[in-house]
Amino acid sequence: MKKIVFATNNLHKLQEISSITRDKIELLTLKDIGFAGEIPETSPTIKGNALQKAEYIHERYLMDCFADDTGLEVAALGGAPGVYSARYAGENASYNDNVVKLLHEMKDATQREARFVTMIALILEGERYFFEGIINGHISTFAAGAGGFGYDPVFVPQGYSQSFAQLSSELKNSISHRAIATQKLIAFLNVRL
Ligand code: IMP
Repeated sequence: MKKIVFATNNLHKLQEISSITRDKIELLTLKDIGFAGEIPETSPTIKGNALQKAEYIHERYLMDCFADDTGLEVAALGGAPGVYSARYAGENASYNDNVVKLLHEMKDATQREARFVTMIALILEGERYFFEGIINGHISTFAAGAGGFGYDPVFVPQGYSQSFAQLSSELKNSISHRAIATQKLIAFLNVRL
């Protein structure tokens, strides 16, 4: 089985992606390759951040690897928090801080459409490839549910009446932005490997 490093320190993401890639590629974690630091994310775009993370590991370990970056884009906020989703409420904001700030910013909004955008950057045999996943939905007026992470308690995917945090992880992992991007990655690897 092909070994590929997933350049993330986020255990939630690792679980979500490994549930999809399980029998198709052998995912190596940063821990598996002995990397314990923080990977910089300083690009002004989601795609740029994904590539920056993948390149950071590739340059140091010369292994095939991929990284993802995700942003929540809220129409009523002009696409914010977008690339700043992790630090929306400040540099060391918790997931809950960000959710509270988002609900506050949206307290008078009647148009509540939002989307999650994931970009995966893959470096395979020295070449760069990108895979995008988008899921549309809306921001609810209150947080609900204990599953998932990040903005999941306030994001209701289109066609559902419950937040990502209320839906089962199996369901979220089959319809999410990250799932769509990951399925594209796997389809590509199936042809290439
Ligand atoms: P990252 O830069 O890809 O780690 O994602 C930025 C931020 O987006 C995270 O800190 C989370 O707040 C949020 N995020 C990413 N993926 C998800 C998801 O699947 N559900 C909810 N929030 C997410």
